[in-house]
Amino acid sequence: MDHFNYRDGLLYAEDVPLTRIAEEVGTPVYVYSTATLERHYTVFADAFAGMRASVFYAVKANSNIAVIKTLADLGAGADVVSEGELRRALAAGVPPQKIVFSGVGKTREELAYALDVGILEINVESENELELLNAVAGEKGVTAEIAIRVNPDVDAKTHAKISTGKKENKFGIDIDRAVDVFRHAQSLTHIHPVTVASHIGSQLTDLDPYRAAFTRLVALVGELRAAGIDIKRLDLGGGLGIPYDGEEPPLPDAYAALVREVVGDLDVELFFEPGRMIAGNAGILLSKVLFEKHGEARRFVILDAAMNDLIRPALYDGHHGLKPVKEPSSDADWTPADIVGPVCESGDTFAKDRLLPRFVDGELVAFTSAGAYGAVMASTYNTRPLVPEVLVKGDRYAVIRPRQTFEEILGAERFPDWQTDDGGGRMAAVSG
Ligand code: LLP
Repeated sequence: MDHFNYRDGLLYAEDVPLTRIAEEVGTPVYVYSTATLERHYTVFADAFAGMRASVFYAVKANSNIAVIKTLADLGAGADVVSEGELRRALAAGVPPQKIVFSGVGKTREELAYALDVGILEINVESENELELLNAVAGEKGVTAEIAIRVNPDVDAKTHAKISTGKKENKFGIDIDRAVDVFRHAQSLTHIHPVTVASHIGSQLTDLDPYRAAFTRLVALVGELRAAGIDIKRLDLGGGLGIPYDGEEPPLPDAYAALVREVVGDLDVELFFEPGRMIAGNAGILLSKVLFEKHGEARRFVILDAAMNDLIRPALYDGHHGLKPVKEPSSDADWTPADIVGPVCESGDTFAKDRLLPRFVDGELVAFTSAGAYGAVMASTYNTRPLVPEVLVKGDRYAVIRPRQTFEEILGAERFPDWQTDDGGGRMAAVSG
């Protein structure tokens, strides 16, 4: 459920008409709904009521500090994968004791920073990382509480690029080797292994892969305890899918019921790292139709948004709904169209053969389900400034990241000295 609905023939974000945001902020623009973020977080967290469970919002899905703060104010912790995300979580007011640090390759500097700020747990993904963390913690004279991420070798049955739980994926430590690695971790002076972690993939629409993975993790916890390693927590990752195109992913309640059934008796604290499930349907990308173009064989709708603003269709064949902001009349003529951006490559196609009413130039449209992995994956390709982000709450809205300016883009670049006068570079060579 989200809070983007038609009212009196116009699409609204909560109580704000999108036409107003387009007029005042311009397009393209990402628009997020506070009520939807809050609802999704609450539904997820409430599903585990009565269990010792903590939710660490996967910041990578949407890392705007105002979005993180919206969730932190409800009690969410943060799952981060870089020093940058860690800094965002702290800036948004997430206490260090509610932050876990995942990621397949952390640098010495990142590990040092995480130890300095005293986060709850570092999720280690390789033996070399274990050694490095032990060394860094030793230099600081501290002991790092860690999770070891295991790879349970389960097919998440999702898009190959976002599948992480098979042996051939780069993530975690093979489950068959986990006991040895935990033993080794336990022997290191500055490491205290307490958690088994796993994340098998993203946009899962079926509970079966979770069941398979969780069952293996439960067996592993048994083996570890038998080996004298005191496992206190199980981090089950994120991955719950959302409906982009009529999918019916399991509701948090069904997911929680599975967790209860499979790991309920284990006497561990449970950690979850949902990202998309919380932010995905809480955001839209508002864009303007520049032109309609009718080729011999196809109808093209050319938008002012492009693949650099929303990369999911190009990268994962991701589907995003497209809603005209002005509600189509009942007698509108819906015909197939290719929805494209202005970037100079054919991959800059948001959808093919999508049934859409006829647009007039300048009409507004909204890509739905764009709150997760939208703005965070944007780039300035084609020197297109990063688009602004807006957060709506009731009848108010605020720009939570202004549109990047050309001055900011160009101002960040430098000529090398051989191209400038004083460096005796190109200018001098040209004049001499
Ligand atoms: N925990 C870990 C360790 C992860 O790697 C991820 C996502 C999550 C939690 C959150 O997963 P979620 O609940 O959002 O599915 N850019 C891709 C998705 C990449 C997901 C990467 N890891 C997309 O646009 O579909």
